[in-house]
Amino acid sequence: MPARILYSYNTMVILGIDTSCDDTSAAVVADGRHALSNVIHSQIQLHHPYGGVVPELASREHLRNMVPVVQEALSQAGLTLGELDGIAVTMGPGLIGSLLVGLYYAKALSYVHQKPLAAINHLEGHILSIFLEEQIPRFPFVALTVSGGHTTLYYVKGFGNYEKLGQTLDDAAGEAFDKVGKTLGLGYPGGPVIEKMASSGEKECIPFPRALLAPESLDFSFSGLKTSVALYVKKWQENGGETSGVRVEDIAASFQEAVIDVLIRKTLAAVERTGAGSVVIAGGVACNKALRERFRETFSERSESFFYPRPAYCTDNGAMIALAGYHRIMGGERADMSVDVRSRYPIEELSPLSNDTV
Ligand code: KG4
Ligand code: ZN
Repeated sequence: MPARILYSYNTMVILGIDTSCDDTSAAVVADGRHALSNVIHSQIQLHHPYGGVVPELASREHLRNMVPVVQEALSQAGLTLGELDGIAVTMGPGLIGSLLVGLYYAKALSYVHQKPLAAINHLEGHILSIFLEEQIPRFPFVALTVSGGHTTLYYVKGFGNYEKLGQTLDDAAGEAFDKVGKTLGLGYPGGPVIEKMASSGEKECIPFPRALLAPESLDFSFSGLKTSVALYVKKWQENGGETSGVRVEDIAASFQEAVIDVLIRKTLAAVERTGAGSVVIAGGVACNKALRERFRETFSERSESFFYPRPAYCTDNGAMIALAGYHRIMGGERADMSVDVRSRYPIEELSPLSNDTV
């Protein structure tokens, strides 16, 4: 039975496509709330031997997987292309070669099937991903997006209405996880494997630095921490590595704790500055269970509510792009055939949308 029949005749179904980095993803979302499918083809195995994403390989792999991933997303949703009400696709920020595959495929689908097209800012997708969950925050809220490319605090006043409060001045939190993973010889991506090792490590073992910058600053800096771990590991290896009494697990746990500490402190400062009643975390690093737990503990003792999307909506996914596309299309926005990809795409350029469209 087509999924559409499960909803009302007014249900609006959007196909969302994201190929911003190394995941080929497509999803169908109904009414900007309910994911009917969310298909993700991960390229982790392909990039693993190189210790990071190789852009040229990523775009070729997107080319191979784009059509089957979209077909699978439609099939799981029980819909055909003709039944869609619109197509949303990430236009940036991201890797140019990767973005091109998704955007041009979406353009072709939109043209051939005469469907409205929304060209989406990937960061807006991450910020709004929480609206795919049952429990949703009220506006305004503070959102911390922590991924491989971004670590940013936003004051989210409504759909499309984002004030940037602070951001990383150098490495993103996920990038620090990936680089420390590489230093420790754990492969790419570092985040999940460091989390696993850290779970049996001693987090107070090594007092790695916490860069808090100026007292009033809501910016982040993780490059000093990354360098400090690299220097520590070099000395640790010279002193016999595991035989010195400190285990890789202890280094992983101490590093992870330093990252979490900084993320918590800055988010608390953002909440205090804005007076927001809710806090949301999003992006790949928000999958980290220790991070989620620390945020949950911290905010359960305070008056703010805390929200996080399930892991499949934290890492790059088409559902968050379809959701953002729903709001943009409902707001009357349409991308035409001249739209192009953008490796950099500041969120400040987006126009605010109505808040009552959910
Ligand atoms: O959001 P995402 O899938 O892609 C970007 O837009 O960057 O985030 C990927 C990043 C990688 O740096 C990865 O190491 C990190 O998220 N990550 C994690 C975890 N799972 C993924 N970091 C810490 N703990 C995790 N469990
Ligand atoms: Zn992302």
